[in-house]
Amino acid sequence: MNDNPRQPAHHSLADVAVPRGIDHIVAGVSTSDGDGVKLTRVLHQPLQQRLDPFLMLDAFGTDNPGDYIGGFPNHPHRGFETVTYMIAGRMRHRDSKGNEGLLQSGGVQWMTAGRGLVHSEMPEQAEGSMEGFQLWLNLPAKDKMREPWYGDIQSAQIPEYRADGEVLVRVIAGHSNGVAGAVQREHTEPLYVDVMLPPGTEFRQALPPEHNALIYVFRESVFIGSSEIPTKRMAILDNAPETDGVVVRAPATNHSPARMLLIAGRPLREPIAQYGPFVMNTREQVTQAVHDFQNGKLG
Ligand code: CO
Repeated sequence: MNDNPRQPAHHSLADVAVPRGIDHIVAGVSTSDGDGVKLTRVLHQPLQQRLDPFLMLDAFGTDNPGDYIGGFPNHPHRGFETVTYMIAGRMRHRDSKGNEGLLQSGGVQWMTAGRGLVHSEMPEQAEGSMEGFQLWLNLPAKDKMREPWYGDIQSAQIPEYRADGEVLVRVIAGHSNGVAGAVQREHTEPLYVDVMLPPGTEFRQALPPEHNALIYVFRESVFIGSSEIPTKRMAILDNAPETDGVVVRAPATNHSPARMLLIAGRPLREPIAQYGPFVMNTREQVTQAVHDFQNGKLG
C-alpha cells in the first residue's frame, strides 16, 4: 500500500465469537465545501447521534483538478477534532497558531480545534488525482475549550501489520490486534484503521459492543456475514450487547484487493449543538463561538 518499502510484521487476528451485523447502509450526499471542492458527505448531521462521537465523514476523490483546485481557504473551527487522511495527492495546511504542514499520500493530519483556530487546507498540485477523507471527532464537553493541537503524521509513521495471508492493516488511531496506532485518545477511544483485503481474505477486529462503528468501502466490495457492502458505501454496524467484534470478508470473486476504513469509538452521550464549523453542547456556546470568530478571537 502506498509506495512504502516497509515489510510489516504479521499479527494474528482476534477471535470473534459473536460478530456484529449491519444496522444499515448509507450512500452519502454529494455536495461541495470550501471553495467548490466536490465531495461525498457520508456521515452527515442526521447520523451524528447514531455515530456519536463522530460528527462528519467526507470522502473526496477525483482526477479532475476543477473539482478540488479551490481547496479550503481560511475558515474557523471550535469544539472538536478534524482527522484528514490522504490516499492520493498533496494538501498544504496553515493555521492561525503558526502551524504549517504538507499532507501527502498515505499521511494523516490530526487537528484538535479546541477553543478555536482559523486554518486553510489547499491542494499543492494543479493536476493528477486527489483522494482522501476528513473525519470529525467530537471532544468531550470538558475539552471543547482546550488549547488547539496539531499533528502531521507522515505515511511512514503510521503503524502497519499483515494478517491472514496478505491482508494489510494501517492503524491510524486506537489499537488493532495488538498494534498501537499513531494517535490515542482518552474518553472516546477512537479506532481508525485502513484495511486492504485481497480476494478471499478475512479481517477480524475486537470491538466493545457499546462503541459505535462504521465501515466505509472505497475499493471493490466486502461482506459482513451474507450482507455485501458495495464500494463507496458506509455500513453502520449494530451494537447488539452480546457481540465482541467484527468479521469482514473480501469475496474471492473480487478482481483486486478491497479496501475499507473501519472507524469506531465510545459515544460521549452529550448534547450536540452545531453551527457549521462550531460544534458545542448548547446554542449559547455556539453563539459565543460565532461572536468570538467575528471579533477575531479565533486567530
Ligand atoms: Co478545516
